Amino acid sequence: MNERVKQVASALVDAIQKTLTEQRVTEEEWRAGVGYMMKLAEAKEMDLLLDVFFNHTIVDLKAQATRGSTPGMQGPYFLEGAPVVAGALKTYEDDSHHPLVIRGAVRTDDGAPAAGAVIDVWHSTPDGKYSGFHDQIPTDLYRGKVVADAQGKYAVRTTMPAPYQIPNKGPTGVLLEMMGSHTWRPAHVHFKVRKDGFVPLTTQYYFEGGDWVDSDCCKGVAPDLVVPAKTEGGAQVMAIDFVIERPREHA
Ligand code: DHB
Ligand code: FE
Repeated sequence: MNERVKQVASALVDAIQKTLTEQRVTEEEWRAGVGYMMKLAEAKEMDLLLDVFFNHTIVDLKAQATRGSTPGMQGPYFLEGAPVVAGALKTYEDDSHHPLVIRGAVRTDDGAPAAGAVIDVWHSTPDGKYSGFHDQIPTDLYRGKVVADAQGKYAVRTTMPAPYQIPNKGPTGVLLEMMGSHTWRPAHVHFKVRKDGFVPLTTQYYFEGGDWVDSDCCKGVAPDLVVPAKTEGGAQVMAIDFVIERPREHA
């Protein structure tokens, strides 16, 4: 027996039974539901569906417990081996999308500069795809490791990401549609901030006023993660100061 599995799985089963009862679900509806789950497995979208509906809940729980910056979803498109970049992410050579400058500082939870912190930055192409996953886009585009200087400061240039549409033709998209929702995420930039001796911070930030910011299909948008619209010298500026925390000692 596993106490934790027993506790969580039993609570899940109870919650589903309660819903089936309250909604007076018929045998026919039940069979349609079972058929749906089979289709989901066949389409290999189990993880997608779970991400869409529940990942934000797990991230919200993390957010409640941290003394660092607000965490966000990692999403399915992080790659561990991104190149260290100096000043700019590599983009399509003919990328004429609006320039974006991301800059700020990394500090530790006692306010000290996090010198040498490594910030993985990744985001979509101008057409809403992720390198290394879609259309054979080379993995070193639109992702890279940015290293904070001795004052914890960092800056990197790239181009604006686009809103991202999760797979919409499969069972997950069909369900969202039937629920009156949609399959769009607002344009966002992912970050993973790491420094030895500190808890890795995984998060993502959104653009104030952007499409879908108020109706993300994955419900990943927390108020802290929306940066005010700001332009400077023809570039959009995303100013973000990160705070990373030391691991908590468990008594
Ligand atoms: C998903 C995609 C993303 O780009 C993201 O940031 C989070 C989730 C997804 O497909 O589930
Ligand atoms: Fe994403």
